Amino acid sequence: MVNQEVRLCGWVHTVRNHGGVIFIDLRDRSGIVQIVCREPQLIADAEKLGLEYVLQITGRVDKRPAGSENLEIFTGKVEIIVKAINILNTCKTLPFPVDTHQAEANEETRLKYRFIDLRRPKMSRALQKRHEFNLAVRQFLSHEGFWEIETPILTRSTPEGARDYLVPSRQAPGEFYALPQSPQIFKQMLMVSGVEKYFQIARCFRDEDLRADRQPEFTQIDLEMSFVDEVDVLRLVERLIKSTFKSVFDVDLEIPFDQYAYDEVMSLYQSDKPDLRYKSFLRRKFDDLFAQTQLRVLKSALESGKSIYALTIPEGAPAAARMELDRNVAAAKAFGAQGLIWLKRNGSTWESPIEKYLSPTERAELLKRTNPNDLLLLCAEEANLADRVLKEMQRHWAALLNIRPAAPFALAWVHGFPLLEFVVQEKRWQATHNPFTAPLEKDRPLLKTAPGKVRSHQYDLIMNGVELGSGSIRNHQSDAQKELFGLMGYDEAGAQERFGWMLEALAHGAPPHGGIAFGVDRIVAMLLGEESIREVIAFPKNQRGICPFSEAPAPVEFQQLKELGLKLAY
Ligand code: AMO
Repeated sequence: MVNQEVRLCGWVHTVRNHGGVIFIDLRDRSGIVQIVCREPQLIADAEKLGLEYVLQITGRVDKRPAGSENLEIFTGKVEIIVKAINILNTCKTLPFPVDTHQAEANEETRLKYRFIDLRRPKMSRALQKRHEFNLAVRQFLSHEGFWEIETPILTRSTPEGARDYLVPSRQAPGEFYALPQSPQIFKQMLMVSGVEKYFQIARCFRDEDLRADRQPEFTQIDLEMSFVDEVDVLRLVERLIKSTFKSVFDVDLEIPFDQYAYDEVMSLYQSDKPDLRYKSFLRRKFDDLFAQTQLRVLKSALESGKSIYALTIPEGAPAAARMELDRNVAAAKAFGAQGLIWLKRNGSTWESPIEKYLSPTERAELLKRTNPNDLLLLCAEEANLADRVLKEMQRHWAALLNIRPAAPFALAWVHGFPLLEFVVQEKRWQATHNPFTAPLEKDRPLLKTAPGKVRSHQYDLIMNGVELGSGSIRNHQSDAQKELFGLMGYDEAGAQERFGWMLEALAHGAPPHGGIAFGVDRIVAMLLGEESIREVIAFPKNQRGICPFSEAPAPVEFQQLKELGLKLAY
């Protein structure tokens, strides 16, 4: 475009005053271009500009003089010799710089001024990539014959296991809608309606404890298909993931993904979502080894039903400086663990804070189960917490020991989960995942005799130790679903009261069907290398469930409560 007249709009990213000439970097979401002001009147105009002023300029594209090109940016070989500057708006002093080269402001400030934070090229790119991913998913699924259908946001509680967000009804005082935890029941109803292939980029709402990979409202790619079995769903999803990861993130994946039975994955990794990038770091349960332990922390953990999980880091011992281990313990505590016990094996001796408490039997057994130079990290906690702590340790030690995973993204299916687990306090069974999941046909007779042994048509997709998606083949016959509700503690009337609408639909010619849902936020965050899904959500809530920008949640007018028939009880 050299020598062409152009009109550009954007924000003042930087201003550099070099005496007789002023350079402005003008930025919009597509990047930066250098604007040059030479004439005295334009210099006078440019001297009034502040950072993030909004400009419209006209000028002529010129080649940059030899030696002053900037090949790091797309427009780096040209500059605009400006003819007129029109200030479209001014900007108050910034709470933090938009410039990428500076350290980030703290997250609370970034969220409060999210409108500025999102101008930063890194954030703008995240929004763009998220858009491209959603678009690629839409295109892929539409091409495969799926219809995108919206399901209600004001609905009844769906049983996904978290607490509901409730919305009071004005027309039926004392009654409440629930925001959907997922479109589960509606998508199954669409199968009964003959839709055959449904998908939705669906907003879901769950009032649960927040973590880096959990938000109270998040987005799922939700899909459901009729007349399919497990393999049909897995193969479709593999093609969807492979195609979108390639087109949007330029990541190559091999399909089909590895597939693990739940029992297998538990015995190999003591986790149903292991980080398969680091298979050489064994994870085992040492409950048997420490059954007679004199060490109070371990003893009381075992007595309270927790387990002792041991992570082995081959060749970790020589690299494990005391300060490093102290940092590991502090990191484990930050996750909410009581602590972390380390043992360094040097030859056939141990260096560890618990060294003097080890009995000769324990010592011998530990030697049998390890190799020289192993570093052992013990976490005596409930399974989920131990899993989170030890995964963090895995990542940390892999980086420290310079262990490069074979591929940056390790995906696999886990299936064959137990269908039900027993809730001792309530003396009833509950679904391990989804109350609508079908049992494996060959295990169905066990529903009467040993419900805990029944395996299910549930499948999870895991990536680098995180659950990306989860789905199942459903009970499409009303009686089969009723039998399960019975085990889950609903009598005929209770099941009718809570799920009557669904059972009724299943009894009217429901086809066999199954589906899955993925977390969009998790996928985009992981592929952009972000630790937290908040980095890829335009307006996320903070760790306390608050939106620092709008300051939601907030009190409402007395009149609004009155219309809803509500009175605050505190
Ligand atoms: P599930 O509850 O496993 O399954 O959710 C599916 C996927 O949604 C993502 N996810 C979340 N992402 C961010 N914040 C959250 N709070 C959050 N909770 C879940 C995860 C998870 O794998 N109806 C079933 C799906 C089905 O059976 O078809 C369901 O919702 O990536």
